[in-house]
Amino acid sequence: MRGIDTVIIEKRSRDYVLSRIRAGVLERGLVDLMREAGVSERMDREGLIHEGFDIAFSDRCHHVDLAGLTGGATVMVYGQTEVTRDLFDARDAMNGIIIDEAEEVLPQQVDSDRPYVSFRKGGKTHRVDCQFIAGCDGYHGVSRTVIPSAVRQIYEKTYPIGWLGVLSDTPPVSEELIYVHHPRGFALCSLRSATRSRYYIQCDSSAQLETWSDNRFWEELKRRLPESAAASLVTGPSIEKSIAPLRSMVVEPIRYGRLFLAGDAAHIVPPTGAKGLNLAASDIGFLSQALVRFFTEADESALTDYSAKALRRIWKAERFSWWMTRLLHQLPAADSFDQRIQKAELEYLFSSRAALVSLAENYVGLALE
Ligand code: PHB
Repeated sequence: MRGIDTVIIEKRSRDYVLSRIRAGVLERGLVDLMREAGVSERMDREGLIHEGFDIAFSDRCHHVDLAGLTGGATVMVYGQTEVTRDLFDARDAMNGIIIDEAEEVLPQQVDSDRPYVSFRKGGKTHRVDCQFIAGCDGYHGVSRTVIPSAVRQIYEKTYPIGWLGVLSDTPPVSEELIYVHHPRGFALCSLRSATRSRYYIQCDSSAQLETWSDNRFWEELKRRLPESAAASLVTGPSIEKSIAPLRSMVVEPIRYGRLFLAGDAAHIVPPTGAKGLNLAASDIGFLSQALVRFFTEADESALTDYSAKALRRIWKAERFSWWMTRLLHQLPAADSFDQRIQKAELEYLFSSRAALVSLAENYVGLALE
């Protein structure tokens, strides 16, 4: 890219990465980034532009007119897995190196000007010498731990609930997403296309996937949907089913020497609001700009600013994801006062344009600055 050589070192196989189902709502910033990078052709053809979504409570759907509230901003419904597939294809087309199924990957000497990454593959230890390392190895990755504990601060919150998700080749119950607040727990109706649906229900964090037959899932989902939606729900066999934990986490700083963390290696958001991929993309947007500036203009200032700049946006998305999670779920620790506040907040939201504008501008994605 722009004459800068890059090597991707990946723990998993390509098939594994492309079989994982993640969220599917792209902010305009990510859509723009895909276009600028020249990898948007399929997204622009197959992605669905959404101008709004619904929040259901007390058995009624309330509309959030994203475009109307934000002066025309929309989101794109396109699966994260498809974004990943398009990036793999683009990487292949430029003959970019991807070393997959690499074991024991470890950034080394990151506080020197000769960092390198060591890893094992094919029974041998290898190393890649480089100028900079982007630590994009997710929440369970090793990059974050390379920052000495005396330097790094971790902020974390776990929610004692999970999301049970089902993907099915059934027509979606609605063209737009429906986020559901219900006494039995949160639910979400999402989609990937006119023939493929993605549904979630809040479950206990201890829930076992094996105890959730398709039938049990559909029955529970139906009980949580407003009557009109429940009546038109089309069910069918699941093609993927998984449980995701809900947690918030931020590490600071996200730069240490020549190591720059991005995405889930640096922060986790609960899935409510679909900010995870978008935040990873804005990190990478900032980082790639900073690297280009360094290599083309010998200007290091954007690299120096990376951590503080990315963290300002990260914390705002953390706040929004936390807020939307608390607004819509039944949290085991909530007492009767908390429940009344939650109800008042939902009612306030749909009686105040100011409150709705705040929700909408966060949902479509805050400015990249
Ligand atoms: C999804 O389609 O998987 C999805 C959509 C919206 C969310 C989370 C997940 O907030």
